[in-house]
Amino acid sequence: VAELVWLNGKITPFAQARVGLEDRGFQFADGVYEVVRFYRSRCFTLDEHMERLEQSATALRIPLPLDRVQLKQAIIDLVDRGGEGEGMVYLQLTRGEAPRAHPFPDTAKPTLLFYTRPLPAPWRPGEGDGIKLFSAADERWKKCWIKSLALLGNVLAKQQAIENGADEAVFIDGEIVTECSASNIFCVKRGSVYTHPVGPKVLPGITRLVVAQLCKQMNVPFVEAALTPREMQAAEEIFITSTTRELAWVREWDRKTVGGGKCGTLTKRLHEGYRDRVRAETGAT
Ligand SMILES: Cc1ncc(COP(=O)(O)O)c(C=O)c1O
Repeated sequence: VAELVWLNGKITPFAQARVGLEDRGFQFADGVYEVVRFYRSRCFTLDEHMERLEQSATALRIPLPLDRVQLKQAIIDLVDRGGEGEGMVYLQLTRGEAPRAHPFPDTAKPTLLFYTRPLPAPWRPGEGDGIKLFSAADERWKKCWIKSLALLGNVLAKQQAIENGADEAVFIDGEIVTECSASNIFCVKRGSVYTHPVGPKVLPGITRLVVAQLCKQMNVPFVEAALTPREMQAAEEIFITSTTRELAWVREWDRKTVGGGKCGTLTKRLHEGYRDRVRAETGAT
């Protein structure tokens, strides 16, 4: 997969694309983003990602320079040009470039860019080493449903997790588990799947949405509830989801083994169901 950039309508190699110093994305994190996975160069759940992008952009009152049909086509074309392979599209929309001042500028044109990046093939269902989680206080703002560029709270929590030998930070808001620094979190108790509702503290993850749909298909109760770390840690299975990780089973949480230290059977079945969806939608095997 070649790394190409679409920047305000122009396609260039990655190294040649430039955005101005006073772009509000750079100075204020005044913008939103999306990450879309492609398999054998076919985008997965592109419509769902476009819908969330529109919701995020509307929340910040940043007009999208292209309508949904045009944007989808531009993304598909860029992925095609990159050549066959596994990867992701990173898309970013900012309020644009204007002399630095907090109020919305009158004149700025939004900056829209997206680029492709190769990714290794994800773990097969049930395989991999399992994720190690580390708890971090959820000190983020209360609009986490917007996929905002302002990720400093996530960055600091992730770094804290890494420095403590873990892979991912899990946010604890008071007494409640919300989500992870770059993924949603779920647990399995007595055959039901539990996760926190989306909203002020939880991004409406697209992978989360697919998991909810799979649960429905498989007659598995999908329960949106606020759980404490203790309640989650006592569950039979814990897994996290994101576009790039798909479903990943959790082995450890604050250095204690959870879920028996192995991938749970429902986690594996849901991941297999996810792969079936990927196959049906993209043709990738
Ligand atoms: C904070 C946060 N929560 C959840 C997710 C998972 O969202 P999705 O499944 O759409 O990738 C992400 C994705 O990166 C994220 O950054």
